[in-house]
Amino acid sequence: MATQAKPDLTRAAPAHGARHVAIIMDGNGRWAKKRLLPRIAGHRAGVEAVRRVARAAQDMGLECLTLYAFSSENWKRPATEVSDLMGLLRHFIQSDIDEFHANGVRLRVIGNYRALEPSLVQLIESAMARTAGNTGPVIAIALNYGAQDEMVRAAQRLADRVAKGDLATHDIGIAAIDAELDTADLPPLDLLVRTSGEQRLSNFMLWQAAYAELYFTDMLWPDFDAHALAQALDAFRLRDRRFGGL
Ligand code: IPE
Ligand code: IPE
Ligand code: MG
Repeated sequence: MATQAKPDLTRAAPAHGARHVAIIMDGNGRWAKKRLLPRIAGHRAGVEAVRRVARAAQDMGLECLTLYAFSSENWKRPATEVSDLMGLLRHFIQSDIDEFHANGVRLRVIGNYRALEPSLVQLIESAMARTAGNTGPVIAIALNYGAQDEMVRAAQRLADRVAKGDLATHDIGIAAIDAELDTADLPPLDLLVRTSGEQRLSNFMLWQAAYAELYFTDMLWPDFDAHALAQALDAFRLRDRRFGGL
């Protein structure tokens, strides 16, 4: 009789079953307004929430946590707010990269980050390179990210390959497009969370969300924590994902 292989509990899937969670971190401004504080205070508190939730995601066994930090449309905000947000992002990467690296986290940035200020691009690239060989979870920050822009960039690369004769038009299928997106090497998106009560995607992961479960909470992002993430994962666990089947 063949001996049954023992399950490797150290690699057992977490009970919630989610591999990749993405969060539209919304409500920083309203959090500050409620306290009669300037919007930057809400963004600062939002960074604290990022730290808490990134740690919680590791503890809860997620393979990937993607956080929407700055959209390709957020350039429409006043220049002072844009510059405050970029300053906070820069400071966050500088101050937290050691901890991420020590915990085996792979830091990734998705979106058109190459269009940002050169010293920020360099900081992002060195943080990604430093943690690329780690084997722990991925924390992906969506920066200057817009799903439509991501798809445009993917389409341009595919068109270039067709023009060069490297790719035939009939070989452009779902897999070929998937492979050109910023998320190409990330696990499929399971759960998309948006805080602050808004129920829209705001140009976030439109392709990847095709069969993701959606979860909306009224909680403002600076109030989000491990407990709130656990609640979202509990809700996810109860969903019946059919993917068009029965
Ligand atoms: C989310 O909070 C952070 C970013 C979009 C950068 P908001 O700044 O959008 O906060 P609200 O929506 O004005 O409350
Ligand atoms: C989406 O939030 C972008 C991020 C969370 C980074 P917004 O606050 O920019 O979205 P809208 O403008 O309300 O749709
Ligand atoms: Mg908002």
